Amino acid sequence: MFGRRGKDNQDGAGHADPVRAPANVHANPPGGSPGNSTEPPSGRQASASDPRQAPATGPLPGDGPAAKAAAPKAPESAKAESARPEPGKSEPPQTSRRSEEYYDTKTAIFSALIDAIDLSQLAKMDAESARDEIRDIVNEIISLKNVIMSIAEQEELLDDICNDVLGYGPLEPLLARDDIADIMVNGSDNVYIEVSGKIEPTHVRFRDNSQLLNICQRIVSQIGRRVDEASPICDARLPDGSRVNVIVPPLSIDGPSLTIRKFKKDKLTLEQMVDFGTISPEGATILEIIGRSRCNVVISGGTGSGKTTLLNCLTRYIDEDERVITCEDAAELQLQQPHVVRLETRPPNLEGEGEVTMRELVRNCLRMRPERIIVGEVRGPEAFDLLQAMNTGHDGSMGTLHANSPREALSRVEGMITMGGFNLPPRTIREMITSSIDVIVQAARLRDGSRRITHVTEVMGTEGEVITLQDLFVYDILGEDANGRIIGRHRSTGIARPAFWERARYFNEEKRLAAALDAAEVHDDNGMEVFGT
Ligand SMILES: Nc1ncnc2c1ncn2[C@@H]1O[C@H](COP(=O)(O)OP(=O)(O)O)[C@@H](O)[C@H]1O
Ligand SMILES: [Mg+2]
Repeated sequence: MFGRRGKDNQDGAGHADPVRAPANVHANPPGGSPGNSTEPPSGRQASASDPRQAPATGPLPGDGPAAKAAAPKAPESAKAESARPEPGKSEPPQTSRRSEEYYDTKTAIFSALIDAIDLSQLAKMDAESARDEIRDIVNEIISLKNVIMSIAEQEELLDDICNDVLGYGPLEPLLARDDIADIMVNGSDNVYIEVSGKIEPTHVRFRDNSQLLNICQRIVSQIGRRVDEASPICDARLPDGSRVNVIVPPLSIDGPSLTIRKFKKDKLTLEQMVDFGTISPEGATILEIIGRSRCNVVISGGTGSGKTTLLNCLTRYIDEDERVITCEDAAELQLQQPHVVRLETRPPNLEGEGEVTMRELVRNCLRMRPERIIVGEVRGPEAFDLLQAMNTGHDGSMGTLHANSPREALSRVEGMITMGGFNLPPRTIREMITSSIDVIVQAARLRDGSRRITHVTEVMGTEGEVITLQDLFVYDILGEDANGRIIGRHRSTGIARPAFWERARYFNEEKRLAAALDAAEVHDDNGMEVFGT
């Protein structure tokens, strides 16, 4: 019927069915497209809604290309509306008449497509060709069925169909948007996104929880896993590098829960952070000098406060000729230097074997002759090994950890070492901390959604049992404007000679450091220096 695939088609149902087995699964998404309540007409649908029919192990046709194919669209859609859900795609019909029709048409065309197309062939194509193939066939179907559509509608339909066949169905428009940081799916009816630091609901819906579960299976199948009652939790990754967590019933009570931390291809730079007000220009210079002069740095902050982004910025100031080794749970950092070895931890497999922990990675790192070690996120006993590394000639090592203030960051490190069973007296641990960490950079996401660097703090030494800290640079919150946006300022605390002064001098950066600190001082109306508010 449609040129390219006629053969399978005419061979009769008996032959065509096994070939089209995967179609059952693909037939599922279209039914569940936003706002569509119509069951696709095909009788095969019965098995499609059964999650167990999903080919959960082994990649599905087109899994890989899918996200990539969607990617090129990102810039336009991101530009088109920077903060609101994308109209038309992620937001389903408000004016439902046309939309109902649209979804009916789509379902009909989709079923015809599934009949006409050989999915196993499609799986062998790259994303571009697969899309072209689908495009051709859909156009043929449209003209054969005499469907009347505008070019724009036709394009939209085509996108939708490609998303369902090649990608992650209703999630695709969200995945394509570059302005979204996180996607949170709480069961089939509740999809939230984080845009500009704020969490907001979307109108994206799945047909039902089994469609959602199918998509979850499709995602985790890429790492050879499946999620079910027996193993209801899984961390995975999308082909574009986005981190995914899936937790399904019975653990998540109201349907599968899917959390995606979108991978940003273009990481923010320090200059952009200055534009956003995350840090002042002087503060950025200070951070740059900290990076260049090989201070050991801990970046501390809450979830989504921008720690990894900041760490990525700091790595830009590493010299080209240094050997850098990065250890991460899921590779996010994008170092520009040529001499980088990237390591990644591995979760245990289904049988609970084969796990490689962060601690093992960091320890192994030490045998790889690193000059700097970068640990994406420190959460456990690897804290000990990172401190050891910092202490033993790997100056300029860095890591992030989860804490709400520089002081809390230190107690977290202490806690991780204590919990790691190292059996060291607290005093020794503290001494170890003070002799290894030079600077703590605190990142925060404020209540208005904006991200700020709130402290650049030096670790000085111990006084008795207590570690002494010295703030170099802080952010003061001064108030709030009429729109609820926080007004504040970054300032240096008036310390003329930071503890890393000599270090900066060694790298010939002391003049810039002094100038930046000077320029960042805040004086009151009488010219008096302001020390804190
Ligand atoms: N200074 C910033 N301004 C605006 N957005 C930011 C800033 N820093 C980070 N982001 C965005 O916030 C999200 C979370 O950042 P990330 O660095 O991964 O956070 P964390 O590692 O603290 O969980 C990303 O989408 C990132 O692009
Ligand atoms: Mg992070």
